[in-house]
Amino acid sequence: MLVIVNETYDTMSAEAARIVADRLRKKPDLVLGLATGSTPLGLYRELIRLHKEEGLDFSKVTTFNLDEYVGLPPEHDQSFHYFMRENLFKHINVDPRFIHIPQGMAKDLSAFCDWYEQRIVDCGGVDIQILGIGVNGHIAFNEPGSSLGSRTRIKTLTGTTRQDNARFFKNLDEVPKYALTMGVGTIMDAKELLLLATNASKAAAVRSAVEGPVTAMCPASIIQMHRNAFVLLDKESAAELTGTYNDTWEHKIFTSGNHPHG
Ligand code: GLP
Repeated sequence: MLVIVNETYDTMSAEAARIVADRLRKKPDLVLGLATGSTPLGLYRELIRLHKEEGLDFSKVTTFNLDEYVGLPPEHDQSFHYFMRENLFKHINVDPRFIHIPQGMAKDLSAFCDWYEQRIVDCGGVDIQILGIGVNGHIAFNEPGSSLGSRTRIKTLTGTTRQDNARFFKNLDEVPKYALTMGVGTIMDAKELLLLATNASKAAAVRSAVEGPVTAMCPASIIQMHRNAFVLLDKESAAELTGTYNDTWEHKIFTSGNHPHG
């Protein structure tokens, strides 16, 4: 696990984009795992800039999103389909046929989840998975208590998560109660993980994830078990960490593709 504490949100986002762009240049048909939420927006903005100004090519990329609300149509402005279209897909040259986002409107949700799992495998597995973290330590919509071996499935959202997301809806009642989400086990199968966190509200969750025990009560803590995981932070989200991290980072040469950062 390679923890990198950046001066600001913008430098963190640029660093994350540098890693993703490096992987994409080395493997044009990269399988890219994507996340929603406010945290990866800076990364997406930087990827769009790299596409527009430096010709970063997404035409052969396959994408898999982590999660989606159950019951929101793709055109709903709070659906993750809408979020991805507005904040990334419509600005880059990704082929719509290669985009995968859980279908929260599927008639048979559990059959869809099984299909999604198999589809990831059929595409060769996720090469690099972007992750945010919830204030309660969730990753994707794997809430505390989620099995660390879980696969894509329907999950009930906790009160905390619905409350956190209520700001985007007219009121709390409108926030969906269920979501489809890749499981913790699904996420762990990605070849690389890139977890991003920003601002003081995430400091406690980051500490539990990075330095706490590995426990289902903080699903993000599973990242400690991954062989190729980056944790990119800004100063505020790193404020509660007690370890020393960046001196390790300075000696790693990740751009070579050989980054023994386990
Ligand atoms: C949602 C998403 C997560 C995301 C989290 C944090 O619950 N399902 O994937 O990491 O929110 O969101 P934000 O980045 O806005 O703090």
